[in-house]
Amino acid sequence: MRFAILAAALALPTVALAADPVQDTIEARQGFYKLLGANMGVLAGMAKGEIDYDAAAAQTAADNMGTLTSYNLGHLYMPGTSSADSDKTRALPKIWEDFAGVQEKGAAYVAAVKAMQGVAGAGKDQMAGALGALGGSCKGCHDTYRAK
Ligand code: HEC
Repeated sequence: MRFAILAAALALPTVALAADPVQDTIEARQGFYKLLGANMGVLAGMAKGEIDYDAAAAQTAADNMGTLTSYNLGHLYMPGTSSADSDKTRALPKIWEDFAGVQEKGAAYVAAVKAMQGVAGAGKDQMAGALGALGGSCKGCHDTYRAK
C-alpha cells in the first residue's frame, strides 16, 4: 500500500509537468518564429504578386507581427536549449554568450516591424518598400545567431 502511494506520487509530476522541458521550449520557440514567418509570408507573397495585394490583410499581417514584438521571449531562451544541447534547434550557443548583441538585432527588428505597421495598408508599393528593411532585420539576426 505504502509503495503504491509512493509510486502514484512519483508518477504525478511526470504527467503534470512537461515530459521534456528542453524539447518543449525549443518547439515553443520555433512556434513563435513560425508565427512571424507566416505573417512575413503574407507580405512577401503580396510584394512578389503571388498573392493579390489587400490593404486590410497586409495591415493585419503587419499588426500581428507588431503584437508579437511585445511577447516576452525570455522563457523561450531557457539555458540548455542551444544547438550545442540539442540537434532539434538551430539557435546557436552564441546567443547565450552575447545577449547584448541579440538585443541589438531584436531592437532593429522591432523598429522595422513598427515601420511596416505604418505603411502596410497604404498601398502595395509602400508595403513592398518597407519589406526589404524588415526582411533584413530577420536576416541580421539569423546570419549571426542561427545555424545554417
Ligand atoms: C533576435 C534574433 C532573431 C530575429 C530578429 C528573428 N529571428 Fe527568426 N529565428 C531566430 C533563431 C535563433 C531561430 C532558431 C530557433 C530554433 O531553431 O530554436 C529562428 C528561426 C526562425 C524560423 C524557423 C522556425 C522553425 O520552424 O524552426 C523562421 C521561419 C523565422 N525565424 C522567421 C523570422 C522572421 C520572419 C523574422 C523577422 C520578421 C525573424 N525570424 C527575426 C532568431 C531571430
